[in-house]
Amino acid sequence: MKRTFAAIAVAAAALTAAGAQAQNYPTRAITMIVPFAAGGPTDVIARIVGENMSKTLGQQIIIENVAGAGGTTGITRGAQAQADGYTIMMGHMGTHAAAPALYPKLRYDPAKDFSPIGMAAGTAILIAARKDYPAKDLKEFIARLKTEQDKANEAHAGVGSVSFTTCTMFNVMIGIKPTRVPYTGTGPVVNDMIGGKVDYVCDQIVNLVTQIQGGNIRAYAIATPERSSALPDVPTTKEAGLPDYQVSAWNAVFAPKSTPPAIVAKLNDALVKALDDPATKKRLLDLGAVLPQGNERTSAWLGDYVVQEVARWTPILKAGGVVAPE
Ligand code: MLT
Repeated sequence: MKRTFAAIAVAAAALTAAGAQAQNYPTRAITMIVPFAAGGPTDVIARIVGENMSKTLGQQIIIENVAGAGGTTGITRGAQAQADGYTIMMGHMGTHAAAPALYPKLRYDPAKDFSPIGMAAGTAILIAARKDYPAKDLKEFIARLKTEQDKANEAHAGVGSVSFTTCTMFNVMIGIKPTRVPYTGTGPVVNDMIGGKVDYVCDQIVNLVTQIQGGNIRAYAIATPERSSALPDVPTTKEAGLPDYQVSAWNAVFAPKSTPPAIVAKLNDALVKALDDPATKKRLLDLGAVLPQGNERTSAWLGDYVVQEVARWTPILKAGGVVAPE
């Protein structure tokens, strides 16, 4: 009998401590892992929302760039972190939807190994090239790629990244096998593309919009049904003659699984407040991001969406026959 009471007392004390931990959270800085190099779309979105989340939470959100293996290195580290709310991560359609099909030994399950916090930004995909690429429109671009084949250099951010995934789809659709050049993120890709070192990329609008507006990079098409107000002169793939190439990406915040619900709720609240903050919202919209609305902002919606996205991308990528090196 005494043991039972003792066990109950210990359990009650543990619950009280956990409750107090969640109630007082956060009491110190929070690390947000960005699984790509600084300066790329995931990093930029993380820093924009993180800056405002810090104000709501009253503690600094410190971005830690952990690049490698198409973002799976950083997300694996995030999945294995303490579930105390002090390590979160910015994942995306690559790390949390494409990766299972491309990494047979992936060390996390996007649908089971995380506490989803919330969707941050939808990002249209652009087919973009170095500004002096000798093709005046998408049709000429595709024709030239077909003749160049492996003489054309396509840049991406590693197997499983958004740029890799979406250009796999593009390359398979038009029947080309370019030389694929891996980077630690598409931030560094932009510098090399401006320098003429790589020919093209399929990348998220938030990463390219400024360079395209400045004439430093050329966009042949945007892979969404409608043009983006951030790039009104860039035709849709439908207008440009490749209507079947319709693809967008998304970036979302995750915590390790079993993060206390009260902490998840505080992080979700801070993210939603960031998306509603006028200055933060403007920065994201000016970069061409699409912001989640209503129910799309909830943690539960993100959890369901990840399941749907894994199911959607797996057959597409397996059909492409691409598997990450062991
Ligand atoms: C990045 O932040 O560099 C991108 O998300 C990489 C990618 O997924 O293509």
